[in-house]
Formats: sequence, structure tokens, C-alpha cells
Amino acid sequence: MEQQVEKYVLEHTEEENELLKELYRQTHVKIYHPRMLSGHLQGKILKMLSHMIAPYRILEIGTYTGYSALCLAEGLLPGGLLHTIEINDELEEFIRLYINRSPHASKIKLHIGNAINIVPSIDETFDLVFIDGDKREYLAYYHAVFNKVRQGGFIIADNVLWNGKVLNPNENDEFTMSIREFNDYVHFDTRVENVMLPIRDGMMILRKC
Ligand SMILES: C[S@@+](CC[C@H](N)C(=O)[O-])C[C@H]1O[C@@H](n2cnc3c(N)ncnc32)[C@H](O)[C@@H]1O
Repeated sequence: MEQQVEKYVLEHTEEENELLKELYRQTHVKIYHPRMLSGHLQGKILKMLSHMIAPYRILEIGTYTGYSALCLAEGLLPGGLLHTIEINDELEEFIRLYINRSPHASKIKLHIGNAINIVPSIDETFDLVFIDGDKREYLAYYHAVFNKVRQGGFIIADNVLWNGKVLNPNENDEFTMSIREFNDYVHFDTRVENVMLPIRDGMMILRKC
């Protein structure tokens, strides 16, 4: 998005609360690869989608510092729960610090480990799944979560444009090829309806028919 348009869009989008602002700042100061964090616009979109879906159970793959988890948790129904999985145990203390300060702390369950191993052990049916882990594993996550999503439930996958690389036939690194493979697979999967939103780095929204 052009900078001026982005500025205008953010000026006309609900402000981040103080906790999210601090989490954004501290992630940039203390944690490597801060660009991985969802940020203001995407966070508000995730919050809005979550409110629209009104989920009882959410699964997130790829917590990072917890920004998107805090946004998604906003739409949970009373008694709702969000499971979020992060493979990097060095992030655990930082994530817990922020989750515990949120009014949604009791609704967020953090799992530390590889989502591929952890997903089968979570005995839940999900209304909403957010896939935002290792880009090379998107299809594996999709297969792992599919039967745990209720009929009419949603799967959202982030970074499906991969900085535009998916469009360039000369870009054939492992990450780009895996995202392309995921996009093609879900697009032709008759078990889901799909729409790709060109927001930030691209978000694929899937509805299980
Ligand atoms: C793009 S970041 C997530 C950003 C976060 N969802 C947000 O929007 O603020 C991706 C995260 O996925 C984690 N990750 C990578 N592979 C994973 C796996 N197999 N299981 C769980 N987490 C994984 C990485 O360590 C990293 O913290």
C-alpha cells in the first residue's frame, strides 16, 4: 500500500489499545524479526473477523510475541478459548508477560512446541484457525487442522503473497514454492470456499463447506 494511503487507512481505523502499542514497541526493541508481528491494520482486521465469526474455539499456529493472539481473542464468545502454538521456547517468557496483562489472559492457552506434533493432541473442534507459522509447512498445517475445523468454520492463512514473490516465476526458493503450492491446493480444494485478500502480505480466507 502506498504510504499516504496506509497513513489515511490507519487514521480511520480503531486505535490500538495501550497493551498492543507497548507489545509492538517492545517486540521491535527486544525481539529479532519484528516484521513478523501482525501490527495495527492486520490486528484490527483479525479482531473484526473474530467478532464476525464469534468463535468459541480458536487455534493459532505461530504465536511469535502474541500480537495476533490478543487481537483474535477479542471476538471469543463467553467461555471461549484460543489455543496458540509457538515453536520457539525463547519467546515464552515474553509472550506470557503480555498475555497475562491482557483482560483475555484466562481465554488464551499457550503451547510451546511444534504445531505439527501439538495439533493432534488438542481435543477441540475449531470455529477459526489462523495459520501463521513456518511458510514451508502451510500445507502440513492445513492437513493437520482440517478435520478439527467445524463445518462452516474458517481457516485464515497469512503471508500468502509472500512479498509478491508468488507471482514471479523466477522465484523458486523453498518458502515461495511452498506458499504457491498451498495457495493452489486450497484454491482447488472443493471442501472449502476461498478468497484471497491483498492486505499487507496477503491473507487467504477459507470457509469449510
Ligand atoms: C510470522 S510469525 C507469527 C506472527 C504472529 N502470528 C503475529 O501476527 O503477531 C511466525 C511464528 O511461527 C513460529 N513457528 C514456526 N514454525 C512453527 C511450528 N512448526 N509450530 C509452531 N510455531 C512455529 C515462529 O517461531 C514464529 O514465531
